[in-house]
Amino acid sequence: MPTLPFFFEDNWCDVIGKASRGLNCSLARLTQLSNLSLKDIEQLFNGVLDKKNLGILAPFLSLHAEALLALAENTPPVPCLLPKQMAQFTTSFHGMQVHSYLLWSEENKTAIAFDTGADLTSLFNKLTANQLTLRTLFLTHGHRDHVEKLSKLLTQTGAEAWIAEADWISGTKPLPKHFSCQLDSCIQIKAHSTPGHSPGGTTYVIQGLPVPVAIVGDAIFARSVGGIPPAAYSKGLQAIEENILSLSPETILCPGHGPLTTVEEERKLNPFFAK
Ligand SMILES: [Fe+2]
Repeated sequence: MPTLPFFFEDNWCDVIGKASRGLNCSLARLTQLSNLSLKDIEQLFNGVLDKKNLGILAPFLSLHAEALLALAENTPPVPCLLPKQMAQFTTSFHGMQVHSYLLWSEENKTAIAFDTGADLTSLFNKLTANQLTLRTLFLTHGHRDHVEKLSKLLTQTGAEAWIAEADWISGTKPLPKHFSCQLDSCIQIKAHSTPGHSPGGTTYVIQGLPVPVAIVGDAIFARSVGGIPPAAYSKGLQAIEENILSLSPETILCPGHGPLTTVEEERKLNPFFAK
């Protein structure tokens, strides 16, 4: 594997791996399509970077060559700052970093959590420090690292938890289609269906803050996507295009793993979506 420090959840080698698995495209098939030797392709999939070969291979995985090469350069993402009524919590789940988020209203001091992560200490500290009442938990999907502390959070706060029906887990209510709600007189949350990484994957779009924000779970990462099984791959990518990358360019994307990013950055630099 490459030895450079990584700024992103996935490096270029992870991206070609996810694309080949999603497309169900073997290395032998890629050899036929690209005219690269099997050895050259195996080297790329083992993380040995050859920029020329990577550029040749990219289109056969429906990846944007320049965006993939830019990822291989490992240039850091443009820093994003969340609005002051939001917080990000990063916790460790079996050695893997996972993000959860909190949104609150200064008007009525109520809060909404997005996913639980693997530890609630920072969330509870934030609620106490800002004298907030947590009323609602929205889950982006049902994978364990995102819902690990569900029962503890519900027991300790009395909040209601919602998740899309296809990802339903005990203790939650099924999210109605086209769900939206107001946190206060300004802030609105709207659920967008983004299945693929998981069948009930949901993105929560927050309007009414100084800048729009979308809590995307593992649908999309900065410069990559959450792994999508072959049967859901093309529709999964389409759902991201239609329900996340169609948002206004300045929208901040808050993924479950890796750095924050924006719609504008991912339209330009995500190898799965750049044109
Ligand atoms: Fe996930």
